[in-house]
Amino acid sequence: MKKLLSILFITYIVIAQPGYADIATGQALVDQACQQCHDNGMYSRSNSIVQSYPELQARVEFCENASKAHWSDAQINQVIEYLNDTYYKFPKP
Ligand code: HEC
Repeated sequence: MKKLLSILFITYIVIAQPGYADIATGQALVDQACQQCHDNGMYSRSNSIVQSYPELQARVEFCENASKAHWSDAQINQVIEYLNDTYYKFPKP
């Protein structure tokens, strides 16, 4: 039931705010699948191991695999967009 509610909520956000759809979906995905090992503080730590957009892409793919979330490529891209937009702010190659 909780899952169904969050799916409805995400759908609402996607329909209500097309411009922010990817960011909102990315945020929901991270909140759902990425906090077993670290919280969101990981993305703003001073000794970050991620120094560029391609490194961020590689790290998200690596961690998505480790989380066993089984996201689609589109979902992985939404998370990369969300993390870059919110935390890293790397120029896109
Ligand atoms: C199985 C445990 C695990 C899960 C689940 C996990 N991570 Fe990680 N993640 C790590 C560890 C450990 C590090 C730190 C690696 C290091 O310091 O070398 C890390 C680091 C990162 C970093 C780099 C942070 C930085 O700036 O230095 C990003 C980005 C990241 N994770 C994204 C994600 C995302 C997105 C998810 C959800 C799909 C996720 N992680 C789920 C273990 C995990």
